[in-house]
Amino acid sequence: MLVLGLETTCDETAAAVVSLGADGRGVILASEILSQIALHAAYGGVVPEIAARAHVEVIDRLTARALATAGIGLSDVDGIAAAAGPGLIGGVLVGLTTAKTLALVARKPLIAVNHLEGHALTARLTDGTPFPYLLLLASGGHTQLVAVRGVGDYVRLGTTVDDAMGEAFDKVAKLLGLPYPGGPQVEREAEKGDPARFALPRPMIGRARPDFSLSGLKTALRLEAERVAPLTGTDIADLCAGFQAAVVDVVADRTRVALKLFREQIGHPTAIVAAGGVAANGAIRRALARLAGEAGLKLVAPPLELCGDNGAIIAWAGLERLRLGLTDDMTAPARPRWPLASLEPAPAAA
Ligand code: KG4
Ligand code: ZN
Repeated sequence: MLVLGLETTCDETAAAVVSLGADGRGVILASEILSQIALHAAYGGVVPEIAARAHVEVIDRLTARALATAGIGLSDVDGIAAAAGPGLIGGVLVGLTTAKTLALVARKPLIAVNHLEGHALTARLTDGTPFPYLLLLASGGHTQLVAVRGVGDYVRLGTTVDDAMGEAFDKVAKLLGLPYPGGPQVEREAEKGDPARFALPRPMIGRARPDFSLSGLKTALRLEAERVAPLTGTDIADLCAGFQAAVVDVVADRTRVALKLFREQIGHPTAIVAAGGVAANGAIRRALARLAGEAGLKLVAPPLELCGDNGAIIAWAGLERLRLGLTDDMTAPARPRWPLASLEPAPAAA
């Protein structure tokens, strides 16, 4: 089974070809990514209109390159998947319309993939992780703790009441004068800094529901930064270290609570899984690994190149759906908002 996957929901244009390996995991035959970071850097964030135009300019070329790298033609694929949301509508339309056109021309099934499902199923692409598992999905737009029970079968246990985790990293970076995207920059600075110098809050810790709140932490950091301004290199490193340490504590506490809820409501998870751009953060990964170890579970965190947005996770989610017979027709809409928990469980998993 071979699936082509297209990703255009945010600031990455990506096309990949994934096949189903004999061991049930995915095999990535090609994964082409063109980041638009340089186009948006001057604005400190993604500009939707610039993003949509940039996707249009490269999607055809990137798709052709992915097929060539995989050494196949369009007629060889079993299905064509595109992320149909959630995301910036202009970009989503580019990927979805391209996939629809290719599916029509090549007479192949279309799979309209939820971008979050792409992140949610990555642990099965890389490790063949069996259902059910506890997922921490943390990216620039989303922060959720989810019980993954099957393809299309998601129970949201907790979420953020304000900023997404990646967004908080990006905002902190911006107010400290670090370039976009901020997550990796903050992590790099944090490694040099003293996490104990600034006393920052740990919002939500101890609450019974595994929700997050990150905007107060960001505000506390801004006040500290204003207090010591003008900032030296050491100040920036210490502020980043303090911020990251607070996020790590919050993540560990919230995930522990979600695990308890999972065991009460869902059953025994096979693993704790991290996904989304923020899952690239080493300190967060270490905290999750510690927590998983204490709980007698395995932590499955994707390799760094599969944490952020890419075509392989979309192709894989498409493959998982295709093999259950879950395909879409030409009326599949582009959805700027599309919660993971609103998907329908596959009949086989119900
Ligand atoms: O999943 P992703 O590539 O795109 C979205 O769907 O949002 O996530 C991007 C987000 C950005 O906010 C970025 O700053 C954050 O992930 N990120 C990180 C790290 N690498 C990327 N946050 C913290 N630490 C990192 N190392
Ligand atoms: Zn993403």
